[in-house]
Amino acid sequence: MTVVAHLSDPHLGPLPSFSALDLLSKRGLGAINYMRRRRRWHDMKVLDMIVADIVDEAPDAVAVTGDLTNLGLEGEFLPAALFLGRLGPPEKVAAIPGNHDAYVRKVSGAPARVWGAHMSGDDGRVGFPYVRRHGLVALIGLSSAVATYPLAATGEVGAIQRDALGPLLRSLKDEGLFRIVMVHHPVAEDGTPWLRRLRDAAALREIIAREGAELVLHGHNHEPARAEIAGPERPTPVVAVPSCSTGLLSHEPLAAYNLYHVAGEPGAWVCEGVTRGFTREGEIAETDRFRLA
Ligand SMILES: [Fe+2]
Repeated sequence: MTVVAHLSDPHLGPLPSFSALDLLSKRGLGAINYMRRRRRWHDMKVLDMIVADIVDEAPDAVAVTGDLTNLGLEGEFLPAALFLGRLGPPEKVAAIPGNHDAYVRKVSGAPARVWGAHMSGDDGRVGFPYVRRHGLVALIGLSSAVATYPLAATGEVGAIQRDALGPLLRSLKDEGLFRIVMVHHPVAEDGTPWLRRLRDAAALREIIAREGAELVLHGHNHEPARAEIAGPERPTPVVAVPSCSTGLLSHEPLAAYNLYHVAGEPGAWVCEGVTRGFTREGEIAETDRFRLA
């Protein structure tokens, strides 16, 4: 059996110091939003409890699907690298960026530069898509993080990654691995608002419909969700987690993460999901259990 933990959207705080110059961009509106609401919604004490629980569970691998930062300020990237380090060593903890990690164009290279140890494949190459093999599982990291106009939070995987993904899924199937695709934005048609959507989701769904994948993981909407997209032999489950730092002052679903227990073999996989999250009683407990295959 191979166990994979999935968490997303920690939106680590507090913000580092920044200058007025830093805010002469989309970051200005983002900073107002953060100071008015988000810094209270994302509770770092809750996040500490989630991290401790994941370390306790000792999964074989950890998948972090983006939005580690808030405004993509240069000073946010190093604390986020330290956060990834608290989850485990780089070879165990795989990360991809979210739209907040590419908030403005000039920091779009920062995630790969500062978090590269967590964004590289088994071949040591930093870039997307990357592949990491853990027991029965292959984790495939895609980046949908692109800078957008103010008020937009769309994403795009882009033609280069999409062209690489098909052959990758095919060869990992030949290796007999349980293929888990990680992407920050939602891939299924799930009613995500137009300004928050993955712009090339339909093209991504076509690749998965052709080549198959056993599971797609994402974050972005800060709410738990389960959907399916077409696959060549059977539907591919698509599962989202809420933010892993949402506390009691937020109207969004409370912080949680999922653990996937993968067993079986190609054609006869068994995958059980377990949700562990922060409860109104102020503790981390199992809050859901579901069967995917
Ligand atoms: Fe987010």
